[in-house]
Amino acid sequence: MKLTLSVIKADIGSIGGHVVPSHPLLNTVREQVEDHGRSTLIDSYIGSTGDDIAILMTHTHGVGSEEVHRLAWDAFLAGTEVARSQGLYGAGQDLLKDSFSGNVRGMGPAVAEMEVEERTAEPLLFFAADKTDPGAYNLPLYLAFADPMNTPGLLLSSKMADGFRFVIMDVSYTEGDRVIELSAPEELYDIAALLRDPERYVVESIWSRSTGEQAVAVSTSRLHNIAGKYTGKDDPVMLARAQMHFPATGEILAPYEIGHFVAGGMRGSHNMPLMPVELNSTISYFDGPPIVTCAAFAVHEGKLTEPVDVFDHPFWAEVRERVADKAAEMRRQGFFGAAMLPMTELEYTGVTEKLETIEERFRVRGSRD
Ligand code: F6R
Ligand code: MG
Ligand code: MG
Repeated sequence: MKLTLSVIKADIGSIGGHVVPSHPLLNTVREQVEDHGRSTLIDSYIGSTGDDIAILMTHTHGVGSEEVHRLAWDAFLAGTEVARSQGLYGAGQDLLKDSFSGNVRGMGPAVAEMEVEERTAEPLLFFAADKTDPGAYNLPLYLAFADPMNTPGLLLSSKMADGFRFVIMDVSYTEGDRVIELSAPEELYDIAALLRDPERYVVESIWSRSTGEQAVAVSTSRLHNIAGKYTGKDDPVMLARAQMHFPATGEILAPYEIGHFVAGGMRGSHNMPLMPVELNSTISYFDGPPIVTCAAFAVHEGKLTEPVDVFDHPFWAEVRERVADKAAEMRRQGFFGAAMLPMTELEYTGVTEKLETIEERFRVRGSRD
């Protein structure tokens, strides 16, 4: 069965700053999708990660379907009304365009989609991250799909022996989608050379080289490229198929044990470690730390089982403690050096303006001529 998996997410308002959407807001989005999606969707799941609401949908209309995108857009519009009526912070903030024009790409919400031939058993992982941007998945994906130190399946399973094809996007390019395809393991160093720069190069999708099937889809939108200025972090979503010709669920999850430093946290302008947390978690310390959730599903004829919260486990509780220590340790150096993002990535213009005002007070002492 040809099945499309679509996840569309947006921040349309939250309680207590950028913390969590309200129950009435979430319920409105859920009801809208259920009521208006009956003839369009096979199934759906709605969840929150920090201040973001994600709508996961299964259907047969293909990637970029106007009907499916409009459904999500209208649900976010209805939710925005509720957010406004409750005085939620940032009501409708990710809906950057006034009217829907066929596809939510380039309109603010993040999208990750893939059309797949459903397998007899279809284990699906749905990731959502808040207070960070799409490059946050670069390292975990590299480790899960290209590094046998993380993924023994690359050695043990003949189904994965041919490796994977990475499609990587240059998200700083705004005239269109500037992408490159690179194959692991042959082009491992080229992949690493790009992925080391997560603010510019972002994994968009990953494909099995033995079957040609798509394993991963990541949202790659950069809000400031759409709005012309920063309007918040891009808070990426990702779909990953597990097992068989793809890495096992545990191999895909294992890299989140690192708590790697990503762009995000306070005012979208700091480097902080990514903390794997339970579904529907809120935001707290230093408007962070950046968080990632993961819901596991079995998909059958497009129907989703109940979500299983894979980071809700004693193992990850220990990881969270360590990541909290890393976050606090980085915060001890305040604005200094690696703690704050480089100029180009700052969400606020205050520092640049300040530097402009003191520029004229510089003087050159002596001359080397
Ligand atoms: C992401 C997020 C942040 C904020 C940033 C600035 O979900 O909430 O990236 O956009 O913290 O927010 P303001 O300026 O509203 O405090
Ligand atoms: Mg936000
Ligand atoms: Mg957010």
